Amino acid sequence: MPNPFYITTPIYYVNARPHLGHAYSTIAADVACRYNLMRDRETFFLTGTDEHGDKIVRAAKNENLSPRAYVDKISGLFKDLCPELRIRYNHFIRTTDPAHIAVVKHILQKIYDSGEIYFSEYEGLYCFGCERFYTERELVDGKCPDHKTKPEVIKESNYFFKISKYQDWLIDHINNNPDFIYPERYKNEVLSFLSEPLEDLCISRPKTRLKWGISLPFDDNYVTYVWFDALINYISAVGYPDGELFKKFWPYVNHIVAKDILKPHGIYWPIMLKAAGIPVYKRLNVHGYWNVDQSKMSKSLGNVIEPLQIKNKYGLDAFRFFIMRDMVFGLDSSFSEESMVQRINSDLANDLGNLFSRVLAMAHKYFSGEIPEVDPVLEQELQLGLESNAIKAIDKFESAMEKFEFHKALIAVWEFISRMNKYVDVTAPWELAKKKSSRKQLEAVIYNLLEGLRVISGLIYPVMPDTSSNMQKHLGMNPDESYYRLEILKKWGTMKSGIKLPKSVTLFPRVDLKKNELYSGENSSEKTLPDLKPEISMEEFNKVDLRIATVVHAEVIPRAKKLLKIEVDLGEKLTIVAGISEGYNPDDIIGKQVIVVANLKPAKIMGILSKGMLLAGFDDNICALGTVDKKIKPGTSLT
Ligand code: ME8
Ligand code: MG
Repeated sequence: MPNPFYITTPIYYVNARPHLGHAYSTIAADVACRYNLMRDRETFFLTGTDEHGDKIVRAAKNENLSPRAYVDKISGLFKDLCPELRIRYNHFIRTTDPAHIAVVKHILQKIYDSGEIYFSEYEGLYCFGCERFYTERELVDGKCPDHKTKPEVIKESNYFFKISKYQDWLIDHINNNPDFIYPERYKNEVLSFLSEPLEDLCISRPKTRLKWGISLPFDDNYVTYVWFDALINYISAVGYPDGELFKKFWPYVNHIVAKDILKPHGIYWPIMLKAAGIPVYKRLNVHGYWNVDQSKMSKSLGNVIEPLQIKNKYGLDAFRFFIMRDMVFGLDSSFSEESMVQRINSDLANDLGNLFSRVLAMAHKYFSGEIPEVDPVLEQELQLGLESNAIKAIDKFESAMEKFEFHKALIAVWEFISRMNKYVDVTAPWELAKKKSSRKQLEAVIYNLLEGLRVISGLIYPVMPDTSSNMQKHLGMNPDESYYRLEILKKWGTMKSGIKLPKSVTLFPRVDLKKNELYSGENSSEKTLPDLKPEISMEEFNKVDLRIATVVHAEVIPRAKKLLKIEVDLGEKLTIVAGISEGYNPDDIIGKQVIVVANLKPAKIMGILSKGMLLAGFDDNICALGTVDKKIKPGTSLT
């Protein structure tokens, strides 16, 4: 039996909805997992959500929900996304699961009992956004490099984990296991971090400051630092300490993370494992960022790509293919619809789609859709190296997949696809079909082409599972998942003659980018901007008094089709007549915080004196109100 395979993704914070970055890590894990199924390995795939800590409490407050209700809601979004993207996890863990909490406490107690945790007073610079202390050295211009805010000096007593003691051990371990942190650039980054002395890790937060967390088993006045809690998910999910899954899979674990969380995974996690007497993980696989217009995709920049929108527009397999083909694992990549459409049209519609429909059309035309009988000697003679090209492609595919070089694995498959297209041109089956005497040759050529398609249908399985089984169906194979096993793919000549093939389909329609722009309004490229009004100076703009106001009352104005009478509170109350009733019922907007122009000259509309104006945008069928992204005091001015 080959070794089992265990793959994990980060567990995502539930303070924001899932975006392309999260989808990428989880799809990469799914691809790695499906590839290992091709190798006949037993697999276990873990993903989930990280639900404790101050970040989450604040996000819940912003939505006026209790932390519990809030984490249930957002965790559900991450979980529901998986089947939509054909992500087949074995377990979805949540750090609020009782079984996880029990393991965290068990490990804390174990490390505490062994004397590796001590209590001490600490004064330091604390960033509330990151929920951690910073050293002066780590700050940029005295500010948190992530949040660009000045950390606050706080002094409190806390529990500390003696990680400094393990520094030399970790350096040795990394040097003795060159694959431990991968790709190499990230190994070097961790080693460079370890070249300076480590500070002990503060692993508690007083409950006076934060209650939403796991209580320390040895001091009920404190909760566990969220990273100490989160990292343990990788073992609690498989039933550490005694579970069968833990015993079977833990020695083979591969973690996938992006470079943002290299430090907790490359430093804290191995030290935690070592201190708890658990073998360290096998390999940490680190990928880069998806950027949009040169900056990291993130919620705060408002440039997130929604995986479901892309899927609905271009199809799931095209989306999975693009992100796996475009990103070099370890490096950053830039997302644009243009490059996605280009790939769909060239790699999918042209190279693969055309090959597939050409070959199947010929099988139908010349052999009434039956896999032809073939003379073994002629079949060999007319292969022109196709079989050995297939084996070569499979070998390259395998070694790339083992290293998570997904793009290289796909390049190997596409080299073979291009080889197949050349084979069609060189053998010119339409010429062979003209003469009765070359009927046997024609049989051999079409048979070889069908065999090649069978190999391709198997090799695309990890990245494009739906297209893979669709191709398989049209190649007359049993709807049996084992067709993608590498062992079977390597055996040329397994297709049975006489089997009837269903009518062909188009695998990937071509996409016209112009008709298909996903974010037209939002794309800031000048072409798509509507005509702008003449430029104004800052001084002129400053004359407009923009305020945040809460809608306290709204009603329909009889006989006015588009108008609502609205009362807003911005410290004092204003009555505004607004043309938004096609998009909003009065009940929809009461309680909303909106943006108003507070110093507009009053005007009488339908007999009502309207003072001020709401900001709203209109396109063909949507009316969207200008609102703010968190609750803020009414009357606050917008600058
Ligand atoms: O860090 N490009 O959660 P998180 C590529 N809860 N990947 C991206 C990305 C981008 N622009 N943005 C996010 C946390 N990701 C912790 C993890 S694990 C024990 C605890 C992906 O919600 C990528 O995998 O901030 C990254 O590491 C992760 O989301 C961070 O997710
Ligand atoms: Mg993050």
